[in-house]
Amino acid sequence: RETIIIDTDPGQDDAVALLLAFASAAELDLRAITTVAGNVPVAQTTANALRIRELAGREDVPVHRGADVPLVFPLSTAEFVCGPDGLAGADLPPPRGEAAPGHAVDALIAILRAAPDDGVTLCPLGPLTNLALAFRLAPDVLPKVKRIVLMGGALALGNVTPAAEFNIHVDPHAAAIVFGCGRPIVMMGLGVTLQAIAAHEQVARLLDHGNAAGRTVHGMLTRPRPGGLGTVGHPMHDPCVIAFLLWPELFSGRDCHVEVETADGPLRGRTTIDWNGRLKREPNAHVVATVQAEALFERMFARLATLP
Ligand code: BDR
Ligand code: CA
Repeated sequence: RETIIIDTDPGQDDAVALLLAFASAAELDLRAITTVAGNVPVAQTTANALRIRELAGREDVPVHRGADVPLVFPLSTAEFVCGPDGLAGADLPPPRGEAAPGHAVDALIAILRAAPDDGVTLCPLGPLTNLALAFRLAPDVLPKVKRIVLMGGALALGNVTPAAEFNIHVDPHAAAIVFGCGRPIVMMGLGVTLQAIAAHEQVARLLDHGNAAGRTVHGMLTRPRPGGLGTVGHPMHDPCVIAFLLWPELFSGRDCHVEVETADGPLRGRTTIDWNGRLKREPNAHVVATVQAEALFERMFARLATLP
């Protein structure tokens, strides 16, 4: 089993990623969920992580609340895509439980310190603020990180701006720290995640099993998308991270050097990906570019059917 921590800003696609991880306990040992401000402010992303944990009946996994603002820039959120509470379409009650004591950054450091070298895979699904803070406060934890499989960046066009993908745009300084940390990185950017849009008939099958998790995901994937940035259907960006851990054979990509633009201007948050190795720089990430979407959704929805 791979030991993982999910750092997240739910967000509907974050919620699906969390459910996929909960449904995959045979392969993934989910040690903690850490929350960050992103799609909505951190009080709400924390409440949403708790709501999803309760939906899955997995109160054994601690949720730690993390950074409420990016390292340098003011927070910009995405209610225009995910609704005022971040989980539009989910129709879930407020959480019964509470976040575990301790800041997410302290939790990350403590779990990593207690782990063997190469012991923990980090799965960031939102802005990279918590990871950057942990790496700066406690660089001794870096050898404990087996790999970082992250959703962020774009090979071609961005979504929140022409140049940038949302997670990197919100906190480019944190992203630059993470891409420079020296540990193995798998980058799941828009180039691949915009291929991960479920066909209508596949989404409908989420209702076949009569389980609450299936109904919830169906509600989120069929909600109206007033803020949908030009795509038809709901791209499952963040679930690609968990799916990559489970079924790497469905994905393909290339080792590349990735540079993050931190200056505040039209290129803020742009990931410049040296796909053809022109800069002759050491690759710092495996950039994923394709996914077999039909197989992905078949496997993913079958897994979600095993949840309560
Ligand atoms: C990313 O931004 C968020 O809105 C999604 O949850 C995903 O992590 C896509 O750009
Ligand atoms: Ca996210």
